[in-house]
Amino acid sequence: MKFFIDTANLAQIKEANDLGILDGVTTNPSLMAKEGIKGSDAVMAHYKTICEMVDGPVSAEVLGTTFDDIVSEGKKLVTIHKNIVVKVPMIKDGIKAIKWFTDNGIKTNCTLVFSAGQAILAAKAGATYVSPFIGRIDDGNWDGVQLIEQIVSIYNGQGFMTEVLAASIRTPLHIVRCAEAGADVCTCPLSSILGLLKHPLTDLGLEQFLKDAKSMQ
Ligand code: G3P
Repeated sequence: MKFFIDTANLAQIKEANDLGILDGVTTNPSLMAKEGIKGSDAVMAHYKTICEMVDGPVSAEVLGTTFDDIVSEGKKLVTIHKNIVVKVPMIKDGIKAIKWFTDNGIKTNCTLVFSAGQAILAAKAGATYVSPFIGRIDDGNWDGVQLIEQIVSIYNGQGFMTEVLAASIRTPLHIVRCAEAGADVCTCPLSSILGLLKHPLTDLGLEQFLKDAKSMQ
């Protein structure tokens, strides 16, 4: 399973990248706004900085909701860097635009996916990635990981090439369960990635080893 970081925060991207386990980055308009980025030139410059920091796919989301606007924005976004993936919402014009991008060799990430039916449409249109939002599904008292399992099973059975990118990750356990479910990619906040490191027995064991090592000096 590939690890992407789900943020537009440069310090967090650097910290995850320095671990040596980062395969890519996803952003969305809310994450960009959180960093105080304003205006299309600043947005483009920020994506360029991220692409220069991380050697892997960087999802940049379109803001338009019509076919023409999505295609024109996507064409502009891919001029930033070869690793840009155009992130497109799961709407009717979005599907049409994903098909256009697929036919024109442009990689896409179909976002705001909450059902297996939506995931089938994204795959039919040739999306490179499909992003089911598992945390938001959990928020509604359903099990987001079950949707990952269902999409993985459909894609495997049907031979779809679209990669399942589990998004809206909230905890380290989400990452583990997505790996079990067969997700191709997990895009996570830094806190969830770092949470994977934690175990009290590791801390206790290391404390004892260091103490014993000192006694040998
Ligand atoms: O990038 C999309 C997704 O990961 C959003 O997560 O936590 O806002 O539901 P969240």
